[in-house]
Amino acid sequence: MTQVLLRNVEDLEALDRAHVFHPSTHLRGHAHGETPCRIVEGGEGVHIVDREGKRYLDAFAGLYCVNVGYGRREIADAVYRQMQELAYYHAYVGHSSEPLIRLSERIVSKAPEGMCRVYYGLSGSDANETQIKLVWYYNNILGRPQKKKIISRERGYHGSGVMTGSLTGLPVFHNAFDLPREPIRHTVCPHYWKHARPGESEEEYARRCAEALDMLIQDEGPDTVAAFIGEPAMGTGGLIPPPAGYWAEIQAVLAKYDILLIADEVVTGFGRMGAWFGSQHYDIQPDLMTVAKGLTSAYLPLSGVIVNEKIWKVLEQGSLDVGPIGHGWTYSAHPTCAAAALANLDIVEREDLPGNVREVGPYFLRELRDAVGEHPMVGEVRGDGMIAAVEFVEDKATKRPFDPAKKVGPTVAAACLERGLIARGMPHGDILGFAPPLVLTRDEADEVVRITKDAVEAVAKTLA
Ligand SMILES: Cc1ncc(COP(=O)(O)O)c(C=O)c1O
Repeated sequence: MTQVLLRNVEDLEALDRAHVFHPSTHLRGHAHGETPCRIVEGGEGVHIVDREGKRYLDAFAGLYCVNVGYGRREIADAVYRQMQELAYYHAYVGHSSEPLIRLSERIVSKAPEGMCRVYYGLSGSDANETQIKLVWYYNNILGRPQKKKIISRERGYHGSGVMTGSLTGLPVFHNAFDLPREPIRHTVCPHYWKHARPGESEEEYARRCAEALDMLIQDEGPDTVAAFIGEPAMGTGGLIPPPAGYWAEIQAVLAKYDILLIADEVVTGFGRMGAWFGSQHYDIQPDLMTVAKGLTSAYLPLSGVIVNEKIWKVLEQGSLDVGPIGHGWTYSAHPTCAAAALANLDIVEREDLPGNVREVGPYFLRELRDAVGEHPMVGEVRGDGMIAAVEFVEDKATKRPFDPAKKVGPTVAAACLERGLIARGMPHGDILGFAPPLVLTRDEADEVVRITKDAVEAVAKTLA
């Protein structure tokens, strides 16, 4: 029986290597069997199981999206019911469905004050593509066709579409793609531990980040800058919470030049920071918000662009000036995805997952700091809500990074994996990232910390 199963795994693996084009993968290594192919078969709570029966604690919730954990029957049931009733109808020219209406009302009721309407897509990337179009449209309708540049941040992540890949401030997502550089600009990444001057407080450093933004806007010409996009806490760029005072400083600069603020809440939305949205947690008043991931806990794909009254008024004017808005996709506002989102949000609310984040998140971070913070190879342990990261350095005193060729971050991630823990070797720098499902318990947090410590010590030995 075991042999039959194993042969089966090998067959499937060979077929995968022959026919599947994987995202963010070393394509040649995969095709030629040089890198692992893990076929995932099941999941329950914070664990997944691969086809060989090995169980892993998934401390990255897939791609920080399976917020309610795996195996939630009630979401599957809601999807089944909706599919039997009406699997699909489009939302063009005012068509609607009950789950869509109920979901939109619910999102708006949880969002920061002033947010009023939701446009739906299927991924964070497509939602941010919509954001860019809306910002341009907004300024065209207002008669300011020159106000079009969008400022993102170095190490910001906003997707890997054509324009959203440009917004993303990580070189690995640009390599050899010829993404359009115009009209995107990048300002500094607000990483206090890495970039603050000796003796500089977080607040002083945050002010310096805002001054850098102000200077960039002045250099470009304020009349040419339409919007600033940022993740309330940075995700893929290295899980970096903002320094104290950062968002107040940034918002003051944007207000000075009438520049819109897009909060990319794809990771931080729906409880990950301990509030419904990262914007509430950090006191951000965005004009537009992007959501995805935690909206359905990835049980089905669904994303959203939430706009405030100020934007909406101009969009309505747009319909008067140029006709119905010429933007939409076949699957925008898919009723079955909306049903999945409603069932998911029921769980988030009923189990008070933001509350669990406020309780277990700080505990996890404290334990992680205690376990590895003093290790000579660890430069920083950081986090907020239910995100955390361990950044490795060659020299703790000077914060000198390792030679990237040593692949320390990926090696520690691989050592965790061997021990049954999924933590993510982040794509930029030697950073081990954690973004567990929001249902994580203290006991599970202890296990994550124990395995991480063990993996760090094992890798340190091989480096020595
Ligand atoms: C902040 C942020 N924005 C946008 C995206 C893109 O989302 P998707 O991968 O669904 O296109 C991501 C994905 O990780 C993200 O973290």
